[in-house]
Amino acid sequence: MAIANQIDADSTDNAQNITLEINGKSTELRLKPWVSLLDCLRERLDLTGTKKGCDHGQCGACTVICDDKRILSCLTLAVMHDGAKITTIEGLSNGEELHPLQQAFIDHDAFQCGYCTPGQICSAVGMFKEGKARNRLDVKELMSGNLCRCGANTNIIDAIMEVKERIDNE
Ligand code: FES
Ligand code: FES
Repeated sequence: MAIANQIDADSTDNAQNITLEINGKSTELRLKPWVSLLDCLRERLDLTGTKKGCDHGQCGACTVICDDKRILSCLTLAVMHDGAKITTIEGLSNGEELHPLQQAFIDHDAFQCGYCTPGQICSAVGMFKEGKARNRLDVKELMSGNLCRCGANTNIIDAIMEVKERIDNE
């Protein structure tokens, strides 16, 4: 498979060694410098929770959290993040206990096909850390880079607002 060959290039001259802390685990990798973080996660590390929608920075399906900031993993190269802490959807639950946003998405029926859901949840985690969302309108605006082709947007915002209100009242 073309992508696997491109990534699994440990012996080539221009491959680079990097270390990423992925979901709390230090991971050493040898990668060609042009491998995107998204392909690194999905094809090299089998972390397929992070989805590839457009691969062009337009849908948000590939959103992960990098050093506390949400980023589009299709638009960045893995080697640019040597030493970074990356959290994907696989790293958000606490063992069997779901992250509050994961539970809220279930409670609010906030997904249909589920393809956008990991990116939506990672994006919302990053948005909370940014601390800019004061109300529902802010949340809609700040989540507007995450598209849902199933039209579950209202339920997605409901789920996020439930968790936001809980955090705000803590
Ligand atoms: S896959 Fe990255 S923004 Fe669409
Ligand atoms: S639930 Fe299908 S794309 Fe959002």
